[in-house]
Amino acid sequence: PTSHIFTPGFERKENKTYRSIPPPRGALDTCPVQMSDQSITPLENTKHFLVSAYMDQRVKGFDIRIISIFRRDSIQTLHCLFCCAGHLSSTTPVTVLVHEDHFGFPFSATDVMCQIPPNCEATHVTLLTQPDGVEVSNQTWLPIKNKKTSREEEKTFQFNFTVCISTLYGEYNNVLQFSQTLEMYRLLGVGRVVIYNNSAGLELNHLLHSYSEEGLVEMVEWPIHKYLNPSHGWLFSKHGGDLHYYGQLVTLNDCIYGPMDRSRYVLLNDIDEIIMPYQHDNLKSMMDMLQQQHPDTGVFLIGSHLFPKKYFNKSKDTPLPQWSGVPGFNILERIIREDPDKNIFNPQKMIIQPRLVEQTSVHDVLKMFGQKYKVPMDVCRMIHCSITLRKERLLSQHKDTRLWDFKDKLMPRVNEMLRRFETEVKGNG
Ligand SMILES: *[C@@H]1O[C@H](CO)[C@@H](O)[C@H](O)[C@H]1NC(C)=O
Ligand SMILES: *[C@@H]1O[C@H](CO)[C@@H](O)[C@H](O)[C@H]1NC(C)=O
Ligand SMILES: *[C@@H]1O[C@H](CO)[C@@H](O)[C@H](O)[C@H]1NC(C)=O
Ligand SMILES: *[C@@H]1O[C@H](CO)[C@@H](O)[C@H](O)[C@H]1NC(C)=O
Repeated sequence: PTSHIFTPGFERKENKTYRSIPPPRGALDTCPVQMSDQSITPLENTKHFLVSAYMDQRVKGFDIRIISIFRRDSIQTLHCLFCCAGHLSSTTPVTVLVHEDHFGFPFSATDVMCQIPPNCEATHVTLLTQPDGVEVSNQTWLPIKNKKTSREEEKTFQFNFTVCISTLYGEYNNVLQFSQTLEMYRLLGVGRVVIYNNSAGLELNHLLHSYSEEGLVEMVEWPIHKYLNPSHGWLFSKHGGDLHYYGQLVTLNDCIYGPMDRSRYVLLNDIDEIIMPYQHDNLKSMMDMLQQQHPDTGVFLIGSHLFPKKYFNKSKDTPLPQWSGVPGFNILERIIREDPDKNIFNPQKMIIQPRLVEQTSVHDVLKMFGQKYKVPMDVCRMIHCSITLRKERLLSQHKDTRLWDFKDKLMPRVNEMLRRFETEVKGNG
């Protein structure tokens, strides 16, 4: 590709007589030269990484938000450069917002905010360390997502509910539990499950390929270990590493912006968790009620309840598992609910209206526009089918077979997906 020296003020100068002034040499064919199709893009001449660029005009004075991973001790002045339908823009100033929840790690989820210059139909954006006179041939450009095409489309959503599973990692291979949980989401009205995939076990990979072909699941590759040493834990002082929990906070935030124009609500929970209505058959009728009672609310907090592993009792009520050869555990065996321990922090998860949230953490949002509401336990609980054995805790336990209310619909669907998956596993050797 030909190189090109960026000329500052180009955009402004040519405003009046756009067509008569030739663009800088090479501009038309260098804009953009290298387009990123990766979910993690190293930013030239810096220690930072870009994830996705979104059109976001909710905060006054800004048009663009780039979800990024910044090294907190190396933040320099940056400038946005746009590709405007084939020509380069002038640069605009950048505001770097490091999320406050970084838990001491050197790298943090970060928002890069800037404005689109006038008379630019921006299609791609990149960041420069110099405002002018720099070599732009090597810049990697990010496509700008969430550009609204028309006003009417704002009100129609492709999905009622999207679930975000931030970072699947460590060769996770819980096929039975994964399939049951995905089908449970579907029965509750979820249209899309976005999974940020660092790595998965062999059989689970096959299952997820079936689910993404079929349309319920959308996989986003997340090879964070190729760029950083991601932590296996959440606290730098305890677990070390470059970035909190495989970049969970980055993927969670990206996952709010991805579905923003597509999904009415987004559920932020892990794959071993099911946000379960207790008075309604599905999430839609529950949210219709809650939203009517709390019209200005954009964040609904759902209390977590542990359904521990060890207390399972093979009673006659247990559905017959045809799933003996399938890796993973059977969530239908989780029928004992623990009361939350009042002495410790009880993690909650969230149902959000993405358009009312600006930044999120795992258990709460960091910046938002509307109100928050803590949903009462009799309306909705999060069923946490913990994967790990917990130490015995002296908490009251209750028999809770809410999952069984769905088993007649759930079991044939899980069987069907597992049948397809087995065929594929066998077919591949
Ligand atoms: C452009 O990128 C290539 C490969 O990343 C690198 O070798 C080269 O030095 C870069 N050129 C400039 C001018 O930065
Ligand atoms: C959303 O839920 C309503 C009511 O259940 C349903 O009629 C509609 O088809 C759903 N929309 C999508 C996109 O699934
Ligand atoms: C998940 O990521 C791994 C590692 O990049 C990849 O090999 C695998 O195919 C991915 N799985 C799916 C279902 O996309
Ligand atoms: C487990 O099984 C025993 C014997 O059948 C029964 O007495 C007990 O109540 C069961 N526990 C639960 C939690 O269902």
